[in-house]
Amino acid sequence: MKIIMLGAPGAGKGTQAKKIAEKYQIPHISTGDIFRANIKNGTELGKKAKTYMDQGLLVPDELVCDLVVDRVQQDDCKKGYILDGFPRTIPQAESLDAALSRLGEAVDYAINVEVPDENIVKRMGGRRACVGCGATYHLVYAAPKKEGICDNCGAELILRDDDKPETVQKRLGVYHEQTQPLIDYYTKKGILKEVDGTMDMGDVFKAIVEILGA
Ligand code: AP5
Ligand code: ZN
Repeated sequence: MKIIMLGAPGAGKGTQAKKIAEKYQIPHISTGDIFRANIKNGTELGKKAKTYMDQGLLVPDELVCDLVVDRVQQDDCKKGYILDGFPRTIPQAESLDAALSRLGEAVDYAINVEVPDENIVKRMGGRRACVGCGATYHLVYAAPKKEGICDNCGAELILRDDDKPETVQKRLGVYHEQTQPLIDYYTKKGILKEVDGTMDMGDVFKAIVEILGA
């Protein structure tokens, strides 16, 4: 099963993608997580990506496409995968489709997690990310057991640099301009599925499982 998660920044793509990956035993491939890991490790890719991410801009397609196309051809992706944060532009979607069609494959589902902008701004201010393992929390909706400390690894929880209010507004603008056209793109291919992302996390997950089948 090859799944794409679509949705605005903070719509809950990462939260749901992790649960889907676990349930269906497929790899969760998040381009945001890949870039953040590269930034943490001080790689050349990380240095380049950071300059865009800190401004709320998309990293250029040429830095993203090859990376994902290589990743989905690795052995652990044979039974499927869930892409979170990719594609984010029409050229990225076209490059994925071209690569998959060379392999005689195609995406099965594009799941759009729909959340209005007003809710997004509120959610992002409450998100906290672990500096150790990258796990995501929310001060209200998914609080850690001990304030400021990751349940998984005990490291500190911080506000992501790109979750500051002015950067969130910028990211939303970029989303509407560059990523939202993908909804049309996948509707035309007949694989778009809409899910109401304003429900609580468990209900959003149930709605996705109904689409994918248990
Ligand atoms: P990325 O990490 O992909 O960021 P994003 O798409 O902006 O998504 P987020 O991680 O912010 O949100 P999410 O939808 O995963 O929400 P989450 O589950 O955490 O990318 C970061 C940057 O990297 C980009 O801006 C860009 O610069 C670059 N980049 C990445 N991919 C790229 C690409 N393909 N091309 C170019 N550049 C790229 O949830 C948010 C919060 O809400 C959490 O606190 C969570 O606990 C909470 N929450 C989740 N669901 C619910 C719910 N149902 N109810 C209440 N709270 C909820
Ligand atoms: Zn952690």
